[in-house]
Amino acid sequence: MTDLSNIENEIAQDINNINNLQALEEVRVLWLGKKGKLTEQMKSLGSMSPEERKNFGAKLNQLKEKLTEQLNAKREAFEREEMNKRLATETIDVTLPTRPHDMGRIHPISQAMEEMLTIFAQMGFNLAEGPDVEDDWHNFEALNFPKNHPARQLHDTFFMTEDREKLLRTHTSGVQIRTMENQKPPIKIVVPGRTYRVDYDATHTPMFHQIEGLVVDKTANVAQMKTVLTEAFKAFFGMDDLQVRFRPHYFPFTEPSFEADVGGELARIVGKEWLELLGCGMVHPNVLKNCGIDPEEYQGFAFGVGLDRLTMLKYNIPDLRSLFDADMRWIEHYGFLPLDVPTITRGLSMNAGLKK
Ligand code: DAH
Repeated sequence: MTDLSNIENEIAQDINNINNLQALEEVRVLWLGKKGKLTEQMKSLGSMSPEERKNFGAKLNQLKEKLTEQLNAKREAFEREEMNKRLATETIDVTLPTRPHDMGRIHPISQAMEEMLTIFAQMGFNLAEGPDVEDDWHNFEALNFPKNHPARQLHDTFFMTEDREKLLRTHTSGVQIRTMENQKPPIKIVVPGRTYRVDYDATHTPMFHQIEGLVVDKTANVAQMKTVLTEAFKAFFGMDDLQVRFRPHYFPFTEPSFEADVGGELARIVGKEWLELLGCGMVHPNVLKNCGIDPEEYQGFAFGVGLDRLTMLKYNIPDLRSLFDADMRWIEHYGFLPLDVPTITRGLSMNAGLKK
């Protein structure tokens, strides 16, 4: 039988020599590991007489417990020391200025588009969309622009194919056709989108934005159309007393057709009495027929709003072309933070007599 007091001395010495966590682990394995010296002693218990085993076993257990306690105490001490060292060296200077961080901005056109769509959504309009690359049927033919009709020349079209069948849509009105071909009245949609014409000067860019509107049911009429548009613009500009006037005009796809202008304060910003904002009218019977809707039973009104000029007016942006320059300083100044409070300040006073 081994003399346990020798072992006890050995252990005491080993513990004394421990000076870091790694050495501590080594001592633990040396004594308590699978093949550790104390573990081996435990194994020898099997060959002892019951008497010896009781005595020796108890002492061994005591030794083991004591060793474990001492090792744990040492470990804690080392860990505390380590933490104190880190606390002393790893300091944060909370007075340092923060690093600059870049935050994306919402383009004023996106903002204005959202606002307009929100206003029309409040009036019960649904959202519809169509492709930027359109075909002749949807962009012209079905909208009552006969081939060789002079009205086609008004649209300086980017054609995509030799046969002029595919083109970049010159207006969002084609989505009226796409919708009526696929849906039965009542129809009540707004269509946001990019549109394209061969045009570039201080007030025109080859790509621009429109919002189209279409209402088709059994009773749609000019009075409703005027109210919807007037209310929408009052809400958009946050002006209760906004003056809107409707002038007779010509579009192949509406009869009668109108252009709407705003007057007063807004028009004076650009040095005018009246400023043109949109085209509109009662959907031409031929257009309804082209989409399989009976003009004897249904009637509709439609409108197309140029969004870019609206954006400039509302947000005091002097130059149209700057909208598409992709200049970082410009977007920093004119752009909106994602969490900016919406700029629609005036609610709608009514839903223009239209059922939702
Ligand atoms: N599509 C016309 C344009 O781009 C605008 C327009 C006028 C749309 C009258 C309409 C409408 O829906 O009824 O100039």
